[in-house]
Amino acid sequence: MRHLMSPLDFSVEELDELLGLAQDIEAHPDKYAHACDGKKLATLFYEPSTRTRLSHEAAMLNLGGSIMGFSSAESSSAAKGESVSDTIRTISCYADICAMRHPKEGAPMVACQHSSIPVINAGDGGHQHPTQTLTDLLTILNVKGRLNKMTIGLCGDLKFGRTVHSLIHALVRYEGIQFVLISPEELRLPDYMRHDVLDKLNIPYQEVVRLEDAIPKLDILYMTRVQKERFFNEEDYVRMKDFYILDKKKMRLAPEDMYVLHPLPRVNEISVEIDDDPRAAYFKQMQYGVYVRMALILTLLDIHVD
Ligand code: CP
Repeated sequence: MRHLMSPLDFSVEELDELLGLAQDIEAHPDKYAHACDGKKLATLFYEPSTRTRLSHEAAMLNLGGSIMGFSSAESSSAAKGESVSDTIRTISCYADICAMRHPKEGAPMVACQHSSIPVINAGDGGHQHPTQTLTDLLTILNVKGRLNKMTIGLCGDLKFGRTVHSLIHALVRYEGIQFVLISPEELRLPDYMRHDVLDKLNIPYQEVVRLEDAIPKLDILYMTRVQKERFFNEEDYVRMKDFYILDKKKMRLAPEDMYVLHPLPRVNEISVEIDDDPRAAYFKQMQYGVYVRMALILTLLDIHVD
């Protein structure tokens, strides 16, 4: 039985296969419409979500399966003090696969150690968000036609942004990837990512504060929201929240073939005035999230469609 805790749980070859499956699902959705008939997905969300929970549910419904779950800790027996390990033992009796989001780093890992069904990490604290990474990889592949030889700008809250940490882990395995880390001093990429991942693997990167200095040389600009829920005090959040705002003026500095991604939700960091720019890929990105989660469910359940 396989779980998904981190993008590193799949080899590059397995990732390529999964992304190829997602592309086939997009091209031939009818072929997959009954692939999960009789199967059940449980979504166990201890933290708010729109895209991740509903795209997992849409994915299972598109495959012919059914869904169940809870969307907040308060509406589950966690509110009465039930542990993650007892909850997953319970869900294992009811469902065939589950997706879990939790504010504590490592909670989905605890779940998979007590589970008899595949567990998908749907975001754990400031740690990892591997299904967002699958979505991001599929988006980059679809808009650029490749996952190698690229300069990727990561902008915003690189300290708490779990999507950034997962994406770095995944992309460093492709040839010719370099990063421009664009953040205020207080929200720099943590040392455990810079030293233990980028430096250790000799991945070229640069750290800058001004987005304008980085944007002309990028292939992909990955914008992120300042993670309000991870700040210890409101004052620091208010000071940081509008540090970056991508608008038409800044987009004029960007190459014609530089695409903008964002895991969403956005707050102010991307102005709505660029939503119609052909380089704005963030709405396509959330659609790709459904196809890639369909491919993930099939892969983890070991279901093959001819
Ligand atoms: N990208 C993402 O995780 O969005 P949600 O928080 O809405 O699930």
